[in-house]
Amino acid sequence: MVQMTKSLYERASEVTPPTASRATTLGMVKAEGHYLFSEDGTKYLDFASGVAVTNVGHNHPKVVEAAKAQLDEMIHGGHNVVYYPSYVKLAEKLNELNGGEQMVYFSNSGAEANEGAIKLAKKVTKRPAVISFKRGFHGRTIAATSITASNAAYRKDYEGLLPSVYYADYPYAYQTGLSEEAEVERCLAQLQELFDFQVHPESVAAIILEPVQGEGGYIVPPKSFLEKLRTLCDEHGILLIFDEIQTGFGRTGEMFAYQHFGVKPDILTLAKGIAAGFPLSAIVAPKKIMEQWPAGTHGGTYGGNPVACAASLASIDILEKEGLPNAKNQGAYFKEALFQLKERVQGIGDVRGVGLMLAIELRKEDGSPDPDMLSKIRTVALDEGIILLGCGTKKNVLRFIPPTTVKREEIDRVINVVERVLKDK
Ligand SMILES: Cc1ncc(COP(=O)(O)O)c(C=O)c1O
Repeated sequence: MVQMTKSLYERASEVTPPTASRATTLGMVKAEGHYLFSEDGTKYLDFASGVAVTNVGHNHPKVVEAAKAQLDEMIHGGHNVVYYPSYVKLAEKLNELNGGEQMVYFSNSGAEANEGAIKLAKKVTKRPAVISFKRGFHGRTIAATSITASNAAYRKDYEGLLPSVYYADYPYAYQTGLSEEAEVERCLAQLQELFDFQVHPESVAAIILEPVQGEGGYIVPPKSFLEKLRTLCDEHGILLIFDEIQTGFGRTGEMFAYQHFGVKPDILTLAKGIAAGFPLSAIVAPKKIMEQWPAGTHGGTYGGNPVACAASLASIDILEKEGLPNAKNQGAYFKEALFQLKERVQGIGDVRGVGLMLAIELRKEDGSPDPDMLSKIRTVALDEGIILLGCGTKKNVLRFIPPTTVKREEIDRVINVVERVLKDK
């Protein structure tokens, strides 16, 4: 009898639950630069970056070297027990990158950073409520699920979530058909209604949002919206939290997306691209806020792991030297190429994004969302060795998340396959 070797996907399906599903059924055995190598020996161009994580590419030699050097020194110290150099150096670096007078608290995942940020806001303001935004995604733990409103499926059967969470509209002018100005006014009026009828602003600890929405559809708000939120928060003593878990670390061509808008949050949450694939997240906030977070009122065993912190320092160095300038250049080229593509084909309703956080929204001729086209493009691309991801509540947004070190010919290859599928429909 011929013994067939099972794929990683087949083996995983037997021992891991459906909830641990993947965007592909691929099993990967090696990663290098902009490519992943599958168990059957196929090379894949990675335009997913492990969902915005490997922002300097896979296994960058400098990241590997820094992590290996740290492995030889110390794997775990425990930040509730001792101090160690990579932890302190990374906190110093994040303080510097955010203008100084900041403090940094490390955890392991994006959701954990957001949980911590909410706890911090509640501790400092002594207020109960949080406002988040429709189409916002903040993670999978209970509090993070509570502030997530990008898809009701993420919440179904988990209801009875964190109380006193309210949801506001995030500007999405393409969807509503309004001018950007009118869309901002609409959203702000709605927020005011929330304050008038549902939650008094003095009960609100924090307003949390992604400065560019990720999972919800790569939606970029007008600058004036973030500016007005900043003013509202200042007026009412509400802390403004920017979840930059997906937008941070060069994704938008700046180290952090808030730098594009010139609007600084009170609390910044970071993860994903922070450490080139090592599990690490951070909460950054001014000293005057952080100093009100008493010892022992928050913590965790693994947060700020020495190896993850060392990898992060190396990754930030690469971003500063090559990732950021390249992301700006190639991001501008890529976006322009997508605009030109929109003119040549039918089916692209909108082109949007910042830096290398780019997307096209796929629409049918009657204007309705086209999730089938999204899956067709992703399938054909995968057959040709390119990994692409979708997003958006209607699953009709194709997002491009290449490494910040992406090359022009790699972008051209991706544009080419998208064009062929759209012309072939
Ligand atoms: C904006 C944003 N916030 C939070 C998270 C959750 O991060 P994690 O999966 O590391 O908990 C994600 C993950 O996709 C995200 O995109």
